[in-house]
Amino acid sequence: MRTKQTILNELECSLPAKSVNEGIARSVVGAFLSQLDPTVEDLSDLRCAVSEAVTNAIVHGYRRGDGDDGGDCRVVLSLALLPDRVVRVTVKDKGCGIEDVARARTPLFTTDPAGERSGMGFSVIEAFSDRLTVRSRPGRGTKVTLYKKMK
Ligand SMILES: Nc1ncnc2c1ncn2[C@@H]1O[C@H](COP(=O)(O)OP(=O)(O)O)[C@@H](O)[C@H]1O
Ligand SMILES: [Mg+2]
Repeated sequence: MRTKQTILNELECSLPAKSVNEGIARSVVGAFLSQLDPTVEDLSDLRCAVSEAVTNAIVHGYRRGDGDDGGDCRVVLSLALLPDRVVRVTVKDKGCGIEDVARARTPLFTTDPAGERSGMGFSVIEAFSDRLTVRSRPGRGTKVTLYKKMK
């Protein structure tokens, strides 16, 4: 049995799937981390990782572009401060889901038909966090969870 993690502080926000919210999600992360007085590097790493995950939910999960207003499609960003300066971030969508998560996590893999994406999003998230888990069900959605211990 897994013991429940102690949560010292948390913040959850639900954002429509529109691209302006990629930047807003980054700012939310910055605001939440301010309580830890993080290093510039840790702050930048986590903002970057979260922005990749939120972008994925919007452009792949819901297949939304710049002109969209998000409609009913929502991305839920949850931030939790755990003991020992560990931050847990989850990014959830109820979009199309991922058929093969292992393949999606492979560097350079992308399903973007326009060739605008690098296929490096998951690699970036992995590099900028200590642990990454991706749970997804086709047709149901995706939940990305990452942990990072702040200096
Ligand atoms: N939230 C998501 N919903 C559906 N598919 C996703 C999601 N996140 C990632 N994917 C899939 O995983 C692939 C790899 O993602 P990523 O490494 O960020 O590269 P990129 O976004 O540049 O394609 C995407 O091309 C897409 O097929
Ligand atoms: Mg991506």
